[in-house]
Amino acid sequence: MGWLEDDVALITGGGSGIGRAVALRYLAEGARVAVLGRNGEQLEEVVAAAGDLGERVLPLTGDVRSPEDLHRAVEATVEKFGRLDILVPNAGIWDYHRSVTRLSGKEISEAFDEVFDINVKGYVLAVEAAWRELVATRGSIVMTLSNASFHTDGGGSLYTASKHACLGLLRQFAYELAPRVRVNGVAVGGMRTKLRGPESLGLQGRTLEASFAKNEASGQEQQPLIPLYDSSVEPEDFTGPYVLLASRTDSGTITGAVIPADGGIAVRGFRQPAGGAGL
Ligand SMILES: NC(=O)c1ccc[n+]([C@@H]2O[C@H](COP(=O)([O-])OP(=O)(O)OC[C@H]3O[C@@H](n4cnc5c(N)ncnc54)[C@H](O)[C@@H]3O)[C@@H](O)[C@H]2O)c1
Repeated sequence: MGWLEDDVALITGGGSGIGRAVALRYLAEGARVAVLGRNGEQLEEVVAAAGDLGERVLPLTGDVRSPEDLHRAVEATVEKFGRLDILVPNAGIWDYHRSVTRLSGKEISEAFDEVFDINVKGYVLAVEAAWRELVATRGSIVMTLSNASFHTDGGGSLYTASKHACLGLLRQFAYELAPRVRVNGVAVGGMRTKLRGPESLGLQGRTLEASFAKNEASGQEQQPLIPLYDSSVEPEDFTGPYVLLASRTDSGTITGAVIPADGGIAVRGFRQPAGGAGL
């Protein structure tokens, strides 16, 4: 028996990165999973990656900025699988560390709208589209948050503000939807994914994994900056807390909580990141 036997999940941005990894992990835990994204090819690849479990994956193209797309996704999920137990608001973009000192007012205005539309409004609209079905199943929401929901320098000001805003959404939704629906989050740290930048800054073609690769190729890979990592981590390494928080059996008393899955940024030392590095 898996931890999520017969549950049904809908994951936004489920075609790549952490969303894809969570989709495959939820499948392995017995769930059926709908993955929503903008790129149909990526979504079909998730079905293929599921192998024998492919028929338990529903690929759905759509944009998280569109309330109609999200309502259609929830309806299609319930039509195919009969219910919705778990919503994972996850789709997002990064600002590639653009500091306020590097951007003009016009660039900030346009990039702010784009980053907040996807990262923040996209989460609100997903919850709006799904809450009725989640109430019906006494289900839960597991949001992807970020180290940037708590700490500086996980991006520039726009990304950091957007991820702090998601923490506020999580807490408010946990209040508004209790006692029927639990709302929790996983604050993931940096990992190799295709996380892209805003079109308005011409950064839609950049990916985080390409930045990792470029640093490695130039021999400029930084020393580990956080306590637990001595090499980069992959999306699959972050999926456990998403399973735990979605499980009614094991998290039935938890709402409004965030598990930081970031390698221990909050306990990083001043002299060196990990105090026990020589052990
Ligand atoms: N990669 C990291 O280091 C990191 C660290 C902390 C938090 N995160 C967060 O993890 C989440 C997932 O990102 P990822 O790193 O897996 O990157 P990713 O690019 O692989 O995944 C994001 C997904 O969202 C989709 N998406 C983007 N805009 C969309 C839109 N308007 N409508 C529908 N889908 C859209 C993309 O197509 C993609 O599939 C994001 O919220 C990101 O902020 C990532």
